[in-house]
Amino acid sequence: MIELQGTSIFLRELTVDNVTPEYIGWLNDPEINQYLESRFTHHSIESVREFVAKKKESETEFFFGIFLKNSQKHVGNVKIGPINREHAFATMGIFVGDKTSWGKGIASEAISLIIHFAFTCLQLFRVDAGVYEKNTASLRTFQKNGFVVEGRRRMHRVTHDGRTSIILLGILREEWEALNP
Ligand SMILES: CC(C)(COP(=O)(O)OP(=O)(O)OC[C@H]1O[C@@H](n2cnc3c(N)ncnc32)[C@H](O)[C@@H]1OP(=O)(O)O)[C@@H](O)C(=O)NCCC(=O)NCCS
Repeated sequence: MIELQGTSIFLRELTVDNVTPEYIGWLNDPEINQYLESRFTHHSIESVREFVAKKKESETEFFFGIFLKNSQKHVGNVKIGPINREHAFATMGIFVGDKTSWGKGIASEAISLIIHFAFTCLQLFRVDAGVYEKNTASLRTFQKNGFVVEGRRRMHRVTHDGRTSIILLGILREEWEALNP
């Protein structure tokens, strides 16, 4: 079981035992899921257990829980994958479900841990991410970690208060190395 240690959090591969009613509540909460594609599905313990079990079997995706170091509390998830081995890149996604953990640097630290894993253990050349333009907090966390805006898909998605663009982000290994000598 892979575990990545940070300062205030650690990432550990998610198992079906981590699928609790609280986690299901995050997925179904319209404030939390407003910028996530998963909001179009209703989630249950059974459906999410099945989802997590599939991710665990996958050879092209790593699906981690974000846990607080001081309490071991599960507060969100971060994923890297699908991994394209031929071209050495992968897409990542992040989700902090526990609202009391927002604004404390947790997403920023989780992104930092996952890109370290991507460029060292997985030997990737680049990591991609996509963010709804309205999701300013998410955009900020990626940019703080050295992701560069590479494009903008104009008015690509529908939200509860109108359409929004998708901001396409990426970081190259050499850029990450320059920031983490
Ligand atoms: C968006 C999300 C990932 C941010 O996580 P977080 O742990 O609160 O983020 P952090 O504390 O690491 O950093 C947030 C940064 O955004 C800034 N920020 C927070 N809210 C903001 C807002 N409304 N507008 C602008 N910036 C904002 C913070 O000031 C901080 O930047 P700073 O360190 O320069 O001050 C989290 O709220 C979340 O998972 N939301 C639900 C799911 C989601 O939207 N996931 C992202 C999909 S791409």
